[in-house]
Formats: sequence, C-alpha cells, structure tokens
Amino acid sequence: MSRRQYFQIVFLLLLCVCTIQSLDRRFTAIRFPPMEGLMPQADPLLNVKTKIGCAMFCVQDETCACISYNKFDSFCMLVPEPATNFEKSTNISIMPHLYHFNVHEVRIDTKEILTQGYRWHEAHQTALRFHYSRPKNNTESIQLCQQEGGDLVTLQTESKLNTIVRILNSNTKLASAGKHFYYNPTTDTGLPSPPMCSVLTKSGTFEEVTCDTTIPYICER
Ligand SMILES: *[C@@H]1O[C@H](CO)[C@@H](O)[C@H](O)[C@H]1NC(C)=O
Ligand SMILES: *[C@@H]1O[C@H](CO)[C@@H](O)[C@H](O)[C@H]1NC(C)=O
Repeated sequence: MSRRQYFQIVFLLLLCVCTIQSLDRRFTAIRFPPMEGLMPQADPLLNVKTKIGCAMFCVQDETCACISYNKFDSFCMLVPEPATNFEKSTNISIMPHLYHFNVHEVRIDTKEILTQGYRWHEAHQTALRFHYSRPKNNTESIQLCQQEGGDLVTLQTESKLNTIVRILNSNTKLASAGKHFYYNPTTDTGLPSPPMCSVLTKSGTFEEVTCDTTIPYICER
C-alpha cells in the first residue's frame, strides 16, 4: 500500500477537518480520536479563537507536529510530538474536550502529505523535521528517522547547512534545546568513528560527542 493511499484511508476514518493555507503553502490537520483528558505537557497559547488560528501558529513553528485545542477556553497548544491514541500523558481533568490534530504539510507540486512535523524546503527539495523534545542517542536517532520514512539529515551543500543553522537559531524552542544535533555525516574524511560521533552545533560547526549522548536530532525525507 502506498503512503498516499494510507493517508486517504486515514481521512475516511477520522475525517480531515481543515486545510490551512499559509504563505502559499498548504497544511492539513487530521483529528485523532477523542483524547479528552490526555495531553503532553507544553506551554499553551491563550485566547486563540479558532482551531484554524491555532493551526496557523503551528505551521509557523518549525517544530510543531500537532495542536491541542479547546474551543471553550480558546486554549491552543503547539505540540512537538504527534498525537497518538495510546500515548500516556498528563491528565488535565479540569480541561475536558481537548481535541488533538496532527498537522501535515501538503506539497503543492505532488500533493504528497508529509509526515506530521515535517516542513518542505523547496530550495533544497527536501522535507526536514527537527526533533528536540525527546533527545536520543545516535543509534536511536537514526532508527527514529527511519521509522518516519527518512534518515538523519545530510549536509552536503553550504546553502542547506545555512538554512538549518538559521532555523536552529531563530526557532525559540530549538534555540534553547542544547547546542548539539545529530546529522548524517556522509563524507568519510577525518570523521570520528564509534564511540565518537560527529554533531552539528548551532553555529554551523561540527564537534564530536560520544555516540551514547542523548541530544536533539534532525531528520529528512
Ligand atoms: C483523568 O482523571 C480523571 C479524574 O482525576 C479520571 O476519572 C480519568 O479516568 C482520567 N483519565 C485518563 C485518561 O487517565
Ligand atoms: C541507545 O539507547 C538505547 C535505548 O536506551 C540503548 O539500548 C542503546 O544501547 C543506546 N546505544 C548507545 C550507543 O548508547
């Protein structure tokens, strides 16, 4: 079954609730089964009047994969991890009717629906996802990118590196997420080998850490 068909089935079961147009880019929010009382911890944005408004904040944040919204309190939360209906998270009993929507970017050219949290970078013809909320060691970061159908990001071109460094420094969550990020070192000249791994710093330079260090990581697909 292709990825596209899979998503079409998801639409039928859960109903695609809204399409968001932002800066000539399209996003789709897919509602997950009711998760009232269940939500991951994060800082809410208050007084956001609609779930589309909430989703607009999400699409402007490179790390947002999901929104949690409650219309009675205009409560909007940008969540860095996708909603699942089995995830154990904080039980907020004072705030029922909290709905969770995974936010997916849709490629304008191919109509492909990207995995939640991925953002399309037209100039580099690639989709990137910045994982910071659950730091991982090197082996696990590779596995998790692969589970999303991708791999750790390669940094072959100067312009792609510059794009990533700009995001790492301009996104407030990433800016406070520590200084090292796992990437995919593709050239084998002078690079460390296990137990040492090469990591990207926020200033765009490379350093070495032991591969069991748990830090944020960047996937692409
Ligand atoms: C949340 O807490 C309420 C009361 O504290 C409890 O009745 C309810 O079962 C809990 N829900 C979940 C999903 O844990
Ligand atoms: C990475 O983490 C996993 C899970 O905690 C662990 O099983 C594995 O041994 C770790 N790998 C390294 C190289 O530290």
